[in-house]
Amino acid sequence: MAVKLLAFSGSTRAGSLNQALLDLAVAEARDRGAEVTSIHLKDFDLPLYDADLERTAYPQGARDLRALFLTHHGFLIASPEYNGSISGVLKNAIDWASRPFEDQPATIIAGFRGKVAGIMGASISPFGGLRGVTHLRQILGTIQTVVATEQVLIPAAATAFDENGKLKEALPAQLLGVMAARVIELAEKLSPPTA
Ligand SMILES: Cc1cc2nc3c(=O)[nH]c(=O)nc-3n(C[C@H](O)[C@H](O)[C@H](O)COP(=O)(O)O)c2cc1C
Repeated sequence: MAVKLLAFSGSTRAGSLNQALLDLAVAEARDRGAEVTSIHLKDFDLPLYDADLERTAYPQGARDLRALFLTHHGFLIASPEYNGSISGVLKNAIDWASRPFEDQPATIIAGFRGKVAGIMGASISPFGGLRGVTHLRQILGTIQTVVATEQVLIPAAATAFDENGKLKEALPAQLLGVMAARVIELAEKLSPPTA
């Protein structure tokens, strides 16, 4: 059985630079044998997390997203940097997906525990969204996910892609492949394929 990765971006806008970066990472992971489910957070009904809503009218989109996390060995996540952190869209999705399943103790975050993440960011600034990606690493570590040490940052991202959507610079393009390989390797170690 191939390693299954869930891929999503914290930016929902058309023409997102982070989505462009994510698409390249997805291709790298598929080239290395991973089965990748690429989703758009905009397609899920995800109101702002609210404990009352969770108790009385759990949104179907949040249920669907949480189930998807559970059935994948790892994640590829592209994070825009908003005001020095990750986007509200991304944090809200992680918050919903991290809510415990009814039959499990609150100490086990089933959708994230023992999973692996490869993280990346594209930003129009010279810093490549480093602050957002660093926060994302911390958040994922808090919820029991192993984040690959390799990460990809694309500074000045508005001019970093060519007309075919490829990165113009060779080094970050290569690093995407190295990161994808590491995520697959770690996922195989943490969740050995069963069939
Ligand atoms: C609310 C908001 C806050 C932002 N804050 C930052 C920031 O702190 N650092 C940064 O590098 N870029 C910041 N940006 C610019 C984003 O890097 C830029 O809009 C980028 O294109 C967003 O990613 P996307 O193309 O995937 O949507 C901000 C953009 C928005 C809309």
